[in-house]
Amino acid sequence: MIVFENEEYLALERICKRRKSVRAFNEKEVYEDDLEKIINIANTSPFASGKKNWDLTIIKDKAKLSLISERIKSYLEEFTSLIKEDFRKDFINYSRNFTFFETAPAVIFLTYRTTSATSRSLDLNKAIDRDLLKVEEWERENSAKSISCVAMLILLAVESLGMGACYMTGGLLAESKFIDLITNKKERKIGAIIPIGYY
Ligand SMILES: Cc1cc2nc3c(=O)[nH]c(=O)nc-3n(C[C@H](O)[C@H](O)[C@H](O)COP(=O)(O)O)c2cc1C
Repeated sequence: MIVFENEEYLALERICKRRKSVRAFNEKEVYEDDLEKIINIANTSPFASGKKNWDLTIIKDKAKLSLISERIKSYLEEFTSLIKEDFRKDFINYSRNFTFFETAPAVIFLTYRTTSATSRSLDLNKAIDRDLLKVEEWERENSAKSISCVAMLILLAVESLGMGACYMTGGLLAESKFIDLITNKKERKIGAIIPIGYY
């Protein structure tokens, strides 16, 4: 029988209440054994459809992180020019927070498979009600929801180790411009960018 100790709740409460998004880091290195501990916690995450369909890539290489950030910035420049003038300044301010991950000593990129088992098994000749076809959207959303669970556990694990992190999706506006630097596996999407470090 599991004995529930109040200390466990109190420790979790402390970690959750202390956690906040960290957007500026110091130079102190993030060690491999701490990254392993973070991955260990991430691996306890629940996921939809009973199949683990996510993975993570950790990048510490500064040159690679700046290249990713440069590609996002260059996309954002083009994107911003399409925004109506009245809203442009606000978007520029908002998007300033899309690329600071490049300053972190380690960055986790969470990826997930987009192959959809249930929608592929549909016999489209039989489907009459178009709502039945929304299964693809449901599967896509399930993947995104699963990634959120992983990301949250990573944030808490990072906090428990005395470091800081931020769950980021802003840069994913430009995902297609840099996914090749994260994974060469087919049918993948990036679900989150999580810079990690001491601050
Ligand atoms: C799905 C998601 C995406 C986010 N994307 C970004 C981002 O791109 N850049 C950023 O600076 N913060 C991002 N955040 C962090 C939120 O701004 C932050 O969690 C929120 O302001 C609450 O602050 P706190 O995390 O300090 O409690 C994101 C948070 C979530 C949940």
